[in-house]
Amino acid sequence: MRKIGILASGGDSPGMNACIRAATRTAIYHGIEMVGVWDGFNGLVEQRLEPLPSRAVAGILQRGGSVIGAGRCSSFRDAAVQREAIAYMRSQGIEGLIVIGGDGSMAGARELHKLGFPTVTVPGTIDNDMPGTEITIGSDTAINTAMEAIDRLRDTASSHNRAMIVEVMGRHCGYIAIMAGLATGAEMVITPERHTELTDIFREMEDERERGKRHFIVVLAEGAQWKAAELAGLINEAPNQYEARYTVLGYVQRGGIPSRFDRILATRMGVTAVDALLDGKSGVLVTWNNNRCTVQEVESLAPHQDPWNET
Ligand code: F6P
Repeated sequence: MRKIGILASGGDSPGMNACIRAATRTAIYHGIEMVGVWDGFNGLVEQRLEPLPSRAVAGILQRGGSVIGAGRCSSFRDAAVQREAIAYMRSQGIEGLIVIGGDGSMAGARELHKLGFPTVTVPGTIDNDMPGTEITIGSDTAINTAMEAIDRLRDTASSHNRAMIVEVMGRHCGYIAIMAGLATGAEMVITPERHTELTDIFREMEDERERGKRHFIVVLAEGAQWKAAELAGLINEAPNQYEARYTVLGYVQRGGIPSRFDRILATRMGVTAVDALLDGKSGVLVTWNNNRCTVQEVESLAPHQDPWNET
């Protein structure tokens, strides 16, 4: 291989830049040129490429976001669009592609692989909802961000004797909510994976109140049965409960300086992705399990839901 491409697809996540840097420098080490594709698969559709010499990725290891943009691209579901993208890459001398992203991005990469174009996916999403890997790039940082915010919210909740509903991201997955809840000792965590009865919340609140607790922190995953405003309203309508307030953390969880863990994970995954392409592998996902970085066939992994919803 003489030239490979790299893109960041779906929602961005802290550590994507560290991965772009590591993959680029590994490619250059092997005498291969790296090309960035702007804004995920959109850059293939709209033919927007950016050569990535070594200096182009200097100073980005510690930066959140993605220096080559990121984005969802619904038109990429079309097989004709995929074929055009392959023709375009070949016309530019690109012989392999690294896709950093979530389930939907992996679905796009898998289609390119099936059409005969060498493609490797690196799991990059704060949601940590991908099959085959214990952890995805950005999740650790997002949990740290949520944890810091919840610590602050607890201070004010305690002062005012309030219930604080904190809605965190994660799409259909409760991972961020559970981990942030554990790290902050939240009184309750509500996730999409498990239905929660309102009566259970009220009973728990009563117990905590009787024990003299001046706050009641609920970490609510965004995909759960209620939105934060709705749950706060239900609590405020009920008699003898804490007064409730809510905070939706939102996109703050997607940005910011990547944690030590995400930088190292992303670096190792970026190196592994290039090595996999050079080994002639395609249609694989870079995975992290038992402290080891390796690759697994995408076809052997069961998707969580319709992955195209997240492209
Ligand atoms: O997949 C990452 C994520 O931040 C989810 O947690 C969230 O549901 C979604 O992306 C938001 O997507 P968008 O950036 O398209 O609004």
